[in-house]
Formats: sequence, structure tokens, C-alpha cells
Amino acid sequence: MTEPVLAARGLVKRYGQVTALDGADLELLPGEVLAVIGDNGAGKSTLIKALTGAIQPDSGEIRLDGQPVRFRTPLEARRHGIETVYQDLAVAPALDIASNLFLGREQRRKGILGTVFRMLDKPGMRQQAAKQMAELKIGLRSLTQPVESLSGGQRQGVSVARAAAWARHVVIMDEPTAALGVKESGQVLDLIRRVRDRGLPVVLISHNMPHVFEIADRIHVQRLGRRVAVVRPSEHSMAEVVSIMTGALTIDASDHDRTVVVDESAAAAAGVTGRSDPDQ
Ligand SMILES: Nc1ncnc2c1ncn2[C@@H]1O[C@H](COP(=O)(O)OP(=O)(O)OP(=O)(O)O)[C@@H](O)[C@H]1O
Ligand SMILES: [Mg+2]
Repeated sequence: MTEPVLAARGLVKRYGQVTALDGADLELLPGEVLAVIGDNGAGKSTLIKALTGAIQPDSGEIRLDGQPVRFRTPLEARRHGIETVYQDLAVAPALDIASNLFLGREQRRKGILGTVFRMLDKPGMRQQAAKQMAELKIGLRSLTQPVESLSGGQRQGVSVARAAAWARHVVIMDEPTAALGVKESGQVLDLIRRVRDRGLPVVLISHNMPHVFEIADRIHVQRLGRRVAVVRPSEHSMAEVVSIMTGALTIDASDHDRTVVVDESAAAAAGVTGRSDPDQ
């Protein structure tokens, strides 16, 4: 079996009475786009935050290239080549676009000006930022415009571009097209394809089923804090996948041709006992 690039086993995260993650698993395989879907509150964002050091899980294990890891901050995950676009946007509003793209990776001037006087290479950063934004086809009047003056969709474009530009290992995007128009969403999907073509695996959280079916190699279905199934879009209809997501349908684990992974115990714990036949 192919070794996952990123894997989680039995992640638990509680917030007081609320169990956001209830023994969640995840496997991201080399070069794939893995969509993560689930209803509001299913624990998708919490799962991503636990994987990338934005929060600490109460228990469970995370492995990167088979090695156990524990990221204490998102910066640590970034140092391991994992770039994340968080749903609750992680841009610095007061900084301009170029500075946001280079946040935490500021480039210094060449020679003594950079090494001794720590002067930033602003023109160089702006030039690269312009190239990246043009590649993503995000129309911006000026890269020196502070991010707080951008629309929600443009801000999302900045964080997507930043993730795609810097990732060396894994890209994770939590609802990257939620605030985007039709054209911009299409551009983000194109960008995800380009990232995959560079050989990087992508985790894409999305509520947009047509997008998921268009771009995902596999779909991880999250329900009540756990993974309940992993399916291939080529083998299931959108209606079936939505039924799995809402708990209306569980898939037969013995149906190996169509089902990649089914967590029956999670489905049972979620109170999903009845089994419906998708063909009926
Ligand atoms: N910081 C927090 N404090 C308290 N509860 C939280 C916190 N973060 C998440 N939760 C709770 O954990 C559960 C899972 O939330 P999470 O944000 O992971 O869901 P989600 O699947 O990303 O939902 P959505 O589709 O709406 O983005 C929810 O019940 C939520 O209210
Ligand atoms: Mg979320």
C-alpha cells in the first residue's frame, strides 16, 4: 500500500461539552486531491487545525511521511512544507499584499544591506508577488494596497496564492472558494490542479459538491467529528455522497469495488443504523 504523505489516527478535540473531533482519521496520499466534506460542525476545520498546529488535539497521532509529528504552531507546519488556507482568514489586514505573501519569509536585500542592516527587498518581493497574483489571475489594482482594503474574495485570493506559492509538501485549503465569484472559483480550481501537477497533494475542504466532484481524486466524508467514509467520485453519485454525509446512507464495507474506506463503528456511533439502497 502507498504510504500516506500526511496521516491522522484517532484525533480527539473537546471544547467543554462539545466534542469537535471524536476519533478522527485522515490519510492524504501522494499527488492526490483529497476533498473533505461534511455538514456544518462536522469537525472539518478542527481536523485541519489539529493537523497544522493551529490547535493541539487532546489525543491521537499525526504522521508526516510516516514519522510522528506534533506541530505546536502553524509556523512549525509551514517549516515542514505544509501550507494552509484557513477558513477564518489568516491574513494580516494592515500589511500590503506583497508583505502578506511573504509573511514570515521576508526577503532581505542582497549584501551588507540585507545581512547587517536587515533591509527588506521590497521591490523584489513585489515583483514576485505580482507574478503569483497574475498566475492566479486575481485582479488587483496595486500590490501595495493594504489587505484590509480588499474585498473578502480578494483576500481569499491572497491567502490561496500564498499557500500555492510556498508549499513544498502539502497544501490544505479550508473553503478556499466560499467567498469567491464563479470566475474566481474556477481560477482557484485551476490553481489546485496546477499544484497537484507539481506533484503536491492537496486537502480541499468544500461544501460545493460540483467543485468536489470536478477536482477530487478521493472524498473523505466527515460526520459528527469522525471520518465515516472515503469514496471516489467516479464510483458514487453526488446524491449518494450527500446521503453518506447526512447519515441517511451507510455503505457496505464488503462492497470493495466501490468503497475505499468505511468506518462502520463511527456510523453506528452517529446513530446511523438503517441502511438504504442507493438504487431504490
Ligand atoms: N474554538 C472553539 N470553541 C468552542 N467550540 C468550537 C471551537 N471550534 C470549533 N468548535 C465546535 O466544534 C464543532 C466542529 O467545528 P468545526 O469548525 O470544525 O466544523 P466544520 O466542519 O468546519 O463546520 P463548517 O462547515 O461550518 O465550517 C462545532 O460544534 C463547533 O461549534
Ligand atoms: Mg469549517
